[in-house]
Amino acid sequence: MVLFFEIPSTRTRLSFHVGVAQLGGEPVVLRGEELQLARGESVGDTALVLSRYVSAIVARVSDHGLVEELAEHSDVPVVNALTPLHHPCQALADLLTLRERFGELEGLRLAYVGDGNNVCNSLMLLGSAVGVKVVVATPPELRPDQRFVPDGVELTNDPAAAATGAHALYTDVWVSMGDEAEGAERRRLLAPYQLNATLLERAREDAIVMHCLPAHPGEEITAELLYGERSAVWDQAENRLHAQKALLERLLE
Ligand code: CP
Ligand code: NVA
Repeated sequence: MVLFFEIPSTRTRLSFHVGVAQLGGEPVVLRGEELQLARGESVGDTALVLSRYVSAIVARVSDHGLVEELAEHSDVPVVNALTPLHHPCQALADLLTLRERFGELEGLRLAYVGDGNNVCNSLMLLGSAVGVKVVVATPPELRPDQRFVPDGVELTNDPAAAATGAHALYTDVWVSMGDEAEGAERRRLLAPYQLNATLLERAREDAIVMHCLPAHPGEEITAELLYGERSAVWDQAENRLHAQKALLERLLE
């Protein structure tokens, strides 16, 4: 398996590496600058050549079009390990975490509060596909891209309304990879969208707190919630490994 990581990662890269090894495969980790792609070889030619050597390609890149182009030309499965538009492997692990905690996915209410980013897009798409009611609270300026908002997803600017009656409160960083230049403006817009004890009071008594990590305690989530007894965050991180192993087995069977 090729693990092509053009941009940083702790969980995704490590969990794929370990998962592939546990399944009896061999991971080959490549950084962006290590392929001839960095010197102008085409994405198509790269995909054709990698397909002759490996069983699948896992790619984390800063241009979503690159993953699509790899998939278009590759003869082996291409897995999106995060682009600025989507983070599907994270959402798979999150659904596994919700199922572990609540037994059934159908009918759960998941409130995503914060930036309408890649993690939000994948949660809306995958959650809706399995019957989770996804409610998204963002500032008007940071609403998710309408292309990725399935029927049934509710968008609001009111975090308290989103959190009311939720089984899970979810947030992600306010400044994603690639958004650093707008960091100050994003922090200003998102300040009212912190996951904290006041917001958690709106949710169900058995509600869990979720975050894909890396976290910035004191910013998008309080340390109290991140490390508290309602936090499912560390299970989410572990479940990256289990969900991705299942994904690879399915793709390669
Ligand atoms: N949640 C997640 O994808 O983490 P990494 O960026 O560390 O892979
Ligand atoms: N939205 C974040 C997720 C990191 C796992 C980012 O894209 O940086």
